[in-house]
This record gives sequence, C-alpha cells and structure tokens, in this order.
Amino acid sequence: MKRLISILAILSVLVGSAAPQMTQEEKEAMKFADKLIKKMTLREKFGQLEQFITRRGVVTGPGGVKCDIESAVRKGEVGSFLSIRDRNEALRLQKMAVEESRLGIPLIFGYDIIHGCKIIFPENLAMSCSWNLDAIERSARIAAEESAATAIHWTFSPMCDISFDPRWSRVSEGAGEDPYLGAKIAAAMVRGYQGDDLSAQNTIAACIKHFAAYGAAQAGKDYNTVDMSELMFRNLYLPPYRAAVDAGAVTVMSSFNDFKGVPASGNKWLLYDLLREELGFRGFVVSDWNAVHEMIIHGVAADGKDAAELALKAHLNMDMLGGDYIAYGEQLVKEGRISEKLVDELVREVLAVKYRLGLFEDPYRYGKQDLSKVYYLPENMEFAREVAAESMVLLKNEGVLPLQKGVKIALIGPFADAPKDQLGAWRGLGDEKRSITFRTALEERFGKENVLYTKACECGKYADKILEGGIEEAVKIAEQSDIVLLSMGLSGWHSGESRSRAEITIPAPQQALLDALKNTGKKIVVLLSTGRPLDIRNEVEKADAVLLTWHSGTMAGPAVADLVSGDKNPSGHLTMSFPCSVGQVPVHYNSKNTGRPPKSQFKAQGYSSSYVDIQNAPLFPFGHGLSYTEFEYSDLKVLTPTVELGGVVKVSVKVTNKGKVAGDDVAQLYVHDLVAETTRPVRELKGFERLSLKAGESKVVEFEIPTSELAYCHSDLSWKADKGDFHVWVGADSYASLKGKFTIK
Ligand code: GLC
Repeated sequence: MKRLISILAILSVLVGSAAPQMTQEEKEAMKFADKLIKKMTLREKFGQLEQFITRRGVVTGPGGVKCDIESAVRKGEVGSFLSIRDRNEALRLQKMAVEESRLGIPLIFGYDIIHGCKIIFPENLAMSCSWNLDAIERSARIAAEESAATAIHWTFSPMCDISFDPRWSRVSEGAGEDPYLGAKIAAAMVRGYQGDDLSAQNTIAACIKHFAAYGAAQAGKDYNTVDMSELMFRNLYLPPYRAAVDAGAVTVMSSFNDFKGVPASGNKWLLYDLLREELGFRGFVVSDWNAVHEMIIHGVAADGKDAAELALKAHLNMDMLGGDYIAYGEQLVKEGRISEKLVDELVREVLAVKYRLGLFEDPYRYGKQDLSKVYYLPENMEFAREVAAESMVLLKNEGVLPLQKGVKIALIGPFADAPKDQLGAWRGLGDEKRSITFRTALEERFGKENVLYTKACECGKYADKILEGGIEEAVKIAEQSDIVLLSMGLSGWHSGESRSRAEITIPAPQQALLDALKNTGKKIVVLLSTGRPLDIRNEVEKADAVLLTWHSGTMAGPAVADLVSGDKNPSGHLTMSFPCSVGQVPVHYNSKNTGRPPKSQFKAQGYSSSYVDIQNAPLFPFGHGLSYTEFEYSDLKVLTPTVELGGVVKVSVKVTNKGKVAGDDVAQLYVHDLVAETTRPVRELKGFERLSLKAGESKVVEFEIPTSELAYCHSDLSWKADKGDFHVWVGADSYASLKGKFTIK
C-alpha cells in the first residue's frame, strides 16, 4: 500500500494531480476534527497550535517567558507539551486539560526518544553500521513500548538528515552519508514507532526531522546556513524524508536552518509545496525549538507577529515553545493577514493525529501499563547487547583480536568505565545505573583478576586532561599485562546538538597516553568511543587493532566483551566515511568523477581534483568493516544484461566464508550511470544484504534493482532513470572490485 502511495505521489509530480487518496482511518479522523473545530473559539484553535515545556519547575511558554502553565491548560491555550519525563505529571496535566478546559481536548506529549527510552541502544549512526533493518526497526519498537507506557505519545524521531560532515556533531543521530540506506533506515524506524495501529497502547507517533537538509549546515556548524542546488537536494538529501513520509509518519519537524534563503519554519515551498503537494504528507508539522520566533534573528521577520504570520502561511502547524501563535494569532486573523480557513486546516491536522492516537477515545490510554512489565525486559536487554555488537566496526586488526583465554588485560582510558558516556547524547529516560560498562563486562568475561584498570585521563565538556599520576599508573598496569585495551575518543557529551568541532582529532591528553603506552612495547587495542567519524590516523598507526565501539548504549560493555573475546564476530560496516583529515571534509563515497579525477585516490598529486599534501581517499571508506574471518566475493553474474525501462536488473554474486569461524558480512551493491543527463556519483549504493555464513560456507546472493531505483533528478527536476550503460559492483565496502555491466534500453 505504502509503495502505491509513493508511486502515486511521484506520478502526481509528473502530472500535477492532487496528493494520493486518504485512507479510511485518515478520513474518519479529519471528519471528527472538522466537527470539533466548529465548536472552537479562535483562541482555542491557536491553543492547539502551541507546544510548551515544563522543566525543573520552571515553565516556558510564549516567547520563552515564564507563564502560568496550568491556567493555559485550563483555558485550552496549549495543545502539547514536550519533555515531560514523569508519567504522573503528564497524566496530571492531561486530566486538567480533559476535565477542566471548556472542550476537554486532550494534550499530546512529545519527547526526544532518539535511540531508546529506558533501554538505550547505540546512537543512530552506530546502529546504522549494523545494516540490520529488522534490528533497527525492533529498537524503535522497544523504544515505543517503553515510551507509550510513560505517557509519551510522540517521539521527535527518526532524524533523517544526510550528512557528509563529521564536524557537525548531530551526525550521531542520523544514518550516515548514503541516501539509499538512510531511506531504508528512516522507514524502518517509522514502522517501529508507529506499528500498524497508532491507537494501540504500545505505539507512538513518529516525527521526520529535521526538514530539511539540516545535515548540510555550512562548515559543519550547527544551525548554520544550508545552500545547495535543488538537484543535489533531491538526489542526496530528500530520499530519507520521502521514505519516512511513504512509511506513514504522521508528523514532521521543521529545521533551524534556512533553505533557498528562507528559514525552514517559514518556508512554504518546503513545508507545503514539496512536503504536502509533492510528497503527499498529511500529518502535522511542528517547528524545532523556538524556531518560529528565531526567524526574527534570521532577519526575515520584524517581530513575533511577523514570524507567526510567516510560519502559518508556510503551513507550519505547531509552534514549539515560541508562543507567537497564541500571542498574535487572533490579531493576525482579525487584521486579515491570516484566514481562519487556514487556521482551521492547521488545527484539523493536529486534531486528526490526536484522534488517530486514540487520545479522544481514552486520553489516559498511554500510561496505564505496569511499568515493571514494560521497562528493561530481559529479552530487550539481550537484544540491546546484540545490536550493540552488530553496530561496532572492526577498523583494524593485526592479529591481536580476538583475545585468548587467560590473557591479562590492562584496561585503560576515559570511557572504559563510563556508564553515562556510553549512552551517548539524547539519552531519553535512560538510567546510567543500568549501564553495563566495558570494565564490568570484561571483568566478568575474563575474570576480575585478569583485568587491571585505570582511567588515566578525562574527556568531557571542557575537561580534556591527564589525571594526576594517570600516565604512570597506566604504564605500570600495562607492564603487568599481556595486552592493552585503550579506551579513546570523545565523550557522549560531544554527540548530538550544538557540539560542532573544527578539529576532529582525539584530544591531546589521550594521544599522550597512547604514546606512553606505545613505548611499553605492549600490543594495543584501541576501543574507540565516538558519535562521529574522527581523524584517527595517529591512533591507527600506533595501535595494533582499532574497534569502533561508538556510544553503544546500556549494553555497550557486554557487546565489547563479546567481540574482543571472539564470542561474537565483528560485523559492522561504516555508513559514514572516516576522513584522513578535516581538510578533506566533505569526503564521501558517492562523489562525482569531475573532468580531472586523480590517477590514484590513494596518493597526493597535482593536476587533478586532488591534494598535493594528502590522498583523496578517506582513511576508511563507506562500507568498511573487518571480521575475524575472511569473506570472498566471486562469480558476479549480471542476469539481465539489458533491461527495459520499468524492468528489474538482476545481479547475483557468490559469497564464501574462507576462514575458520562463522561470521556475518554485508554484501553491498553499487552502480555507476556511465552517461547521464547530469553528472552522477561514481558509485551509488543500490542494494545490500546482511548474511551469516559458517566457516567454509558459501551463499549465492541475488539482488533485484527495479530501474525506478536508478532514477535521479534531472536538470528539469523530473525524477527518472536514463537509458544507457551502467557498471555494477558487489563487495564488502564501497571499494568493491567485482564488476559487471548492464544496459537499460
Ligand atoms: C532540539 C533539537 C530537536 C529536538 C527538539 C526538542 O533543539 O534540534 O532535534 O527534537 O529541540 O528537544
């Protein structure tokens, strides 16, 4: 059904017809909303378009000023709250709205459940490296169950922003640099949150954010300007948003940045023409935090009233915290600057989502569950451990992993025993007391007597420093051990919003620690905690192995123990390139050939699109990930050497586990459109399959690529595939060399 909707939406672009038909459920919700709107005063209507916050007893209402939340609720001047972490508080406010306001319209509660609610899963960029769509969907499902039981009806997730820039700390919340994989992951998360029935007690509303292209903030600076061609936007940034709309997400969040010169929250082309008319979105749009009011600071609104007018006319339904809708909405209508018809449309879409959540039928439906039967279920904790192990990426291994039984380990560094840091940013309702750290899990796996531990240095908000005697203690325990497991990287504080960094190297105190340990002559395994790609040339050169542990959540510790012990075989593959240097940024696999590609991507050179001081290629490419076994790709067959437009390209490949241990790999298929109407990426991911193979086992993987998946935005903005020749590769990363060719006729 969903694919039919998206095909109709695409056709509607071509033939200009209306958005696809509404479902029966949507029609019923809209009908209910229309009836209710007839009873509402204009002020009550604007109340439904306001979202407030109550935090630490301080309440923020219109324009970020303190206001009397309870009177606003009783007067129906607020329709939603965000970030209410306590179920009783949510139910108290809900009761007040339903029983003490004139029309008893229920509130909708939203929160940032980004990678887990109570059980915290790996940060989203980490989880994308599992390439396991079922696991990603399941993580969202579990997060929805724990959220719904806490009277959280709505999450501000999935974050669908593609980004090529590790200076931008919010890459930790996304799915990396590829639109095809990003689209699959976005749809999986929407399905996980919303399930098949939004009114069920264990499903919640999803929110596609940040619309749009927030990940392209110039210079990697959060909130910065975004400016790009519509071609680039449609080819590289739009697909995940579109996929999440097609998956049925019922809300969208407008982004902080401007786009085509207009801040997203006041951008009618973005929020109405594209999102609604072209993509067929029919839910409601909430602004990001105070983003309506910030249009004054952007310089496109003279005051809050102007900002409200701009946002309302852009069809932005709900103002998060700004308060300008409730402050000026009635005046704007009375002055004829906004029609009440438009207001009714905006309110209708909000009420319809509340209706579909079942909040009118039973406003207290979310929050009745016995929390002990929902939170931290053992099977969910075990799953969190599995998905954390699948998310970790073995970047380098020169014969040191897995560790042998009985080995004596020196476990050193800032994140080895860091229950809060391993949760990353956007920790939802996560409880660090439930975290199992690397140290705890390694002591359990290898025996407490075989794990010597010292923290040695700090890495936090602004505290990168060696602890008193830290290096000496680290060297001492290293000398008493067989091997060093050195935790390095960035803390969880460095992930997520407003943590942009101009430098993406690991802070110097940790590098001094690495040098001191290198001098002991002991083998070193770096356990790399980070929420973004880093320039780790130094660490890769000096370490014998590097395991990218990310910020992998509540069960990060057992996952590390499973991998370093060999109980599990690493299977993660990078979804975002690791640059050699921040000077390469943006560096991504799906780049263009240019008219002067370098002779080698791996050598500094001149007279080509390259550098004279370093190579073009990243340190580790998109798709990279090692294993304790070896996978061989062979017998690539293009089963359909020529395909009609509208047909399906079929390619098969044989994958063999040549090693001595079982393992999972991710077979990836890339194409290159050799002669196109516009310049096209030298490689584009168009298929992948995660597969498990026993030692010596082979499997033939067959890929089917509808030619519609080879469509791209042409210079006239039409979305279609070309006839002509394509190269195709299949392998374990974006350097895949096994090659074939097909032609679309
Ligand atoms: C923040 C973030 C957004 C989040 C919202 C509510 O500023 O940009 O991702 O959902 O505010 O916390």
